[in-house]
Amino acid sequence: MDGCSSLNQIKLISNNSEVSTELDIELLILNLLSIDKNILYRDDPRLSSDKLTELKELVQRRERGEPLAYLIKSIGFWSLDLYVDENVLVPRPETEIIIEKVLEDFNTAEKKVLDLGTGSGAIGLALSKERVGWDVFCSDKSFKALKIASKNMQSNSLSVSFIHSDWLEAFASDTFDIIICNPPYIDPDDPRVHSDGLKFEPISALISASKGLKDIEIVISKSSERLVKNGSLYLEHGHDQSQQVISLLKKYNFSEIRKFKDLNGDDRVCSGKIKKC
Ligand SMILES: C[S@@+](CC[C@H](N)C(=O)[O-])C[C@H]1O[C@@H](n2cnc3c(N)ncnc32)[C@H](O)[C@@H]1O
Repeated sequence: MDGCSSLNQIKLISNNSEVSTELDIELLILNLLSIDKNILYRDDPRLSSDKLTELKELVQRRERGEPLAYLIKSIGFWSLDLYVDENVLVPRPETEIIIEKVLEDFNTAEKKVLDLGTGSGAIGLALSKERVGWDVFCSDKSFKALKIASKNMQSNSLSVSFIHSDWLEAFASDTFDIIICNPPYIDPDDPRVHSDGLKFEPISALISASKGLKDIEIVISKSSERLVKNGSLYLEHGHDQSQQVISLLKKYNFSEIRKFKDLNGDDRVCSGKIKKC
């Protein structure tokens, strides 16, 4: 029989690798052969020598720190399957906390909602899936990100509106009931920016001046104008930034300020409501 057993390769490569786990190799093979897990374990399909070469190249890229999601061009987020590549941040599990909180706070009544800095569309599309009556807008400064988010809308059979905008510049005052944003919040001097985990992701999605707080302050100040009276802002931030974010929310007249932890127990999200006369 031509080629080598996929299941043998999973064991062989993962035993010889310090980085790639059996699960990584399994996912790379499923993607390479466009098959699902049942077929892999039922039929143990052969890998041709071309496919084996491709697999080994992908494993090498993984060992250099490239996220698995970029190699297989896919990531599960909430209940969605999203296309991702190097033009968008890989959506993180800790970002799901923001979705949980928004869904807990608001029932199905109609709302006008903005996912600001949408990237792959993760937040806006997840909310649109859960709250079909909501009018969801997704914006980003990156055209490439908007194109990917639009592709994800179509592949998940959802309907949202996409707007190209530098933060809230494209929007009028008193427009949204809810704004959600996971902005860039890493200090440009933070060595993590050059670490394996982050160095393949778009720098514009990661870093922000003023110790990571510059974009957070722009988003808070402009959201205070674009939200309707009593409108709500939900912001993701760094694990050590909650006190500064709370101070900024107060500075721009937000009240009912709350903070939420992620699954690691780190402060990760702050929310507030805007007081207006
Ligand atoms: C941390 S990523 C978040 C992506 C996505 N919302 C998520 O949670 O996976 C930040 C996003 O903000 C966008 N962004 C950065 N600066 C921006 C700006 N000035 N105006 C609008 N979007 C911006 C980036 O292109 C990127 O998609």
